[in-house]
Amino acid sequence: MSRAIRDVVFVDGVRTPFGVGKPTGQYAGTRADDLVVRCIRELLRRNPTLPPERVDEVAIAATTQIGDQGLTIGRTAALLAGLPRSVPGYAIDRMCAGAMTAVTTVASGIAVGMQDVAIAGGVEHMGRHPMGEGVDPNPRIISEKIVDPSALVMGATAENLHDRAPEITRERCDAFAAASQARAAAAYDAGIIQRDLVTMATRSEEGWGLATADEPMRPGTTLESLASLKTPFRPHGRVTAGNAAGINDGATACLVAHDTTAAELGLTARMRLVGFAYAGVEPEVMGVGPIPSTEKALARSGLGIEDIGAFELNEAFAVQVLAFLDHFGIKDDDDRVNPYGGAIAYGHPLASSGVRLMTQLARRFEADPDLQYGITAMCVGIGMGGTVIWERV
Ligand SMILES: CC(C)(COP(=O)(O)OP(=O)(O)OC[C@H]1O[C@@H](n2cnc3c(N)ncnc32)[C@H](O)[C@@H]1OP(=O)(O)O)[C@@H](O)C(=O)NCCC(=O)NCCS
Repeated sequence: MSRAIRDVVFVDGVRTPFGVGKPTGQYAGTRADDLVVRCIRELLRRNPTLPPERVDEVAIAATTQIGDQGLTIGRTAALLAGLPRSVPGYAIDRMCAGAMTAVTTVASGIAVGMQDVAIAGGVEHMGRHPMGEGVDPNPRIISEKIVDPSALVMGATAENLHDRAPEITRERCDAFAAASQARAAAAYDAGIIQRDLVTMATRSEEGWGLATADEPMRPGTTLESLASLKTPFRPHGRVTAGNAAGINDGATACLVAHDTTAAELGLTARMRLVGFAYAGVEPEVMGVGPIPSTEKALARSGLGIEDIGAFELNEAFAVQVLAFLDHFGIKDDDDRVNPYGGAIAYGHPLASSGVRLMTQLARRFEADPDLQYGITAMCVGIGMGGTVIWERV
């Protein structure tokens, strides 16, 4: 039996506004699974020509898969969202690249003809599930020096990266962070980000509320205000609350489909998947992960970095984005990189972020008719990177 690989397209992406993962944050009284359910419902509402029973799979990522992020969240969220019981679902985990892996996993199923339409996304309620909750690393990891102990603290890995790349100074990181905040504020002012946000009911001691915007944003951030911040991961370090993504709550979901099926169902294909790759690096400098994953994805797709007109890079830490840019010879303030701002401004609810990158990239294809290829890329804890290359439909 001969079989051709089929084209996979990104149809639509939505997310909740992101929250600050603290007891005072907007989602402190909101369940993680309810955040995902809201995104799935919104996708169905925005794409009314899609018969819900045509969804072949629901893959939802979470890093901490316990409590309201456990119980095979892709399946339970699908049921809670009112999808027919015939629609299956599952949970996925590649830490920060969870939603990205959900997309590439369902895309693979679509490409080989085993599925036609799928929902992929992710959630992380870091306020309810602090990083590292319930983990039990095998003692051999440390005692046999399989990884350096600092590899388990993401902020420490960012300090390690600063050690290895002293040319990436705190001043450069702070300038990148201030620009991320300014670009995000401008994107909000232009109404770009709100187009893909789904409002979310919230609950607190004061009663019901409505989340309509990203809570972590700090418009008006200046180099001066950043320069005064402490370095929590190391005395006299370089990583601060201002040049790192925060502790956040939020969910994302997107609709991915076989291109012909999308057309048959009246769904608009917004960008086509070209290729993807994941790569492993030294866990103690996990932030460099997107460099080899991007090289691998480009090589496998027959493209070069010069072909890429748009980058949506997850800003876990400014230092790791700058390491990526230095490696590929791209300037810190290049307009092709995160022109709508990034995770330093919006927040980074770990497993959800990959689909935020894709959703923003899809908007960029709409905004720039000359854009041919774009990438979404991110670093991953325990030393990995993930990259997905997309092209204009
Ligand atoms: C860096 C980190 C420890 C900071 O946590 P925190 O102390 O709770 O952060 P806060 O938001 O309270 O900010 C700390 C201080 O910096 C200030 N601050 C933060 N961002 C700022 C900005 N852009 N401009 C000015 N001040 C800022 C806050 O106002 C606060 O000041 P205060 O102490 O006077 O109240 C935390 O965000 C973190 O761990 N981030 C990394 C998350 C991570 O590892 N993700 C995975 C990536 S792989």
